[in-house]
Amino acid sequence: MANLILTSKCQRNCPYCFAPKKGEELNWNNFYKIAEFLSREPKMPYMNFLGGEPTLHPDYLDFLKFAVSEKFIVNTFTNGIIEESLLREIEELGSRTNWANFNFLINVNDAELRTEKEEVALDRTLKALHKASSIGYNIHDVDCDLNFLLDMMLKYRTQPTLRLGIAHPNKDKTNKFLTFEDCRKVRKAIVDITNKRRVMEANLVFDCGFPLCMFSEEDIGKLYLSPTTGINFGCRPAVDIFPDLTVAPCYPFVDERVNLLDFKNYAELDEYLSKALASKNCILEMCDKCWFLGRLCSGGCKAHRINKPPI
Ligand SMILES: C[S@@+](CC[C@H](N)C(=O)[O-])C[C@H]1O[C@@H](n2cnc3c(N)ncnc32)[C@H](O)[C@@H]1O
Ligand code: SF4
Ligand code: SF4
Repeated sequence: MANLILTSKCQRNCPYCFAPKKGEELNWNNFYKIAEFLSREPKMPYMNFLGGEPTLHPDYLDFLKFAVSEKFIVNTFTNGIIEESLLREIEELGSRTNWANFNFLINVNDAELRTEKEEVALDRTLKALHKASSIGYNIHDVDCDLNFLLDMMLKYRTQPTLRLGIAHPNKDKTNKFLTFEDCRKVRKAIVDITNKRRVMEANLVFDCGFPLCMFSEEDIGKLYLSPTTGINFGCRPAVDIFPDLTVAPCYPFVDERVNLLDFKNYAELDEYLSKALASKNCILEMCDKCWFLGRLCSGGCKAHRINKPPI
C-alpha cells in the first residue's frame, strides 16, 4: 500500500497523533508523478489518502476522481469531519459509480475527545458514507472501553470491519502512546470485544505493531477462534509519501526519508523500506532472542527504541 500525505492540516488535535504537523500540500504535478510511479507496478492498484486530514486538501475530490478513473482503489483515512458540500459531492460520486473502488477508514475518537461540532459532522459523514466506510480506533489509554465502536458500527451499518490500532510513539515521543506494559493492560478490552456476539459477524483487523506477547496464550486462542481475519503481529512499511515526494517507512521514521523517484518501481521501494524497518530495534531487548521473532511476530513497533543504537 502507498500512503499519499495530501496535507498536514487537521481540525483535530488528537493527543496520540504521530503525524508530523509541518509540511506542504501535495500539488498536481507531484500527484501525477506518484500515480505514474505506482502504475508501473500492476499488482499495486491501491492508494491511500492520508494527512493531516486529507479531505481538507482543496483538490481532494479531484484527486479522488482522477485516481478512480485511473483504476486505483482509493482508501481515504479520515477523521470524519468532512465539510457538508464536499460530502454531498462524494455521495454523488458514490451513487454514480456504485461505490466501487473507493472507501473510507473513519478514525473515531472517544466521546470525551469529540467536540459538539465534530459530533454533528461525524454523524453526517457516517450517515452519508456508511456503505463505503469502516471504523477505526487507536487505543491510546489503558482505561479504554471499545464497546462504543460496535454500537457505532451497528447504528450506522458501516462495513463489518473494525480496525484497531495501538498508539505508537512519534519520533520524539511527545504524543500519547502505549508502552509495552500498557499494551498488556489493554489486552482484556480487545479480547472482550472479540468475544462479543456482534463481533462474530464482523472482522477485527489489527493495524501494525501489535506485540504478540502482550496477549496470553488463552487470549491468542480466543482471538484466532473468532472470525477475526485481520489478526496479525507484523510490522510492514506504511510507505508514507510526503508532498515533496520523499518517502518514510512510516511516520515515526520521518527523519529517514528517501526519494520516491530514486526507485524503479513500488516493489523496489517496498523492499528497501522493509529492510530498513527490519534492521531497527524491536520493542523489547529480549525480542532478539525470541523464537517468535520473524515467525509470528515482528517485535512490536520499531519506534519505541528509535534513538537507541541496535544491539
Ligand atoms: C495520522 S492519521 C491521518 C488521517 C486522518 N486524519 C485520520 O485521523 O485517520 C492516519 C492514521 O494514523 C493513525 N494514527 C494516528 N496516530 C497514531 C499513532 N500514534 N500510532 C498508530 N497509529 C496512529 C490514525 O488512527 C489513522 O488511522
Ligand atoms: S490522528 Fe488524524 S485527526 Fe487526529 S490529529 Fe492526527 S491527523 Fe488529525
Ligand atoms: S518478538 Fe518480542 S514482542 Fe514479539 S513475542 Fe517475541 S518478545 Fe514479544
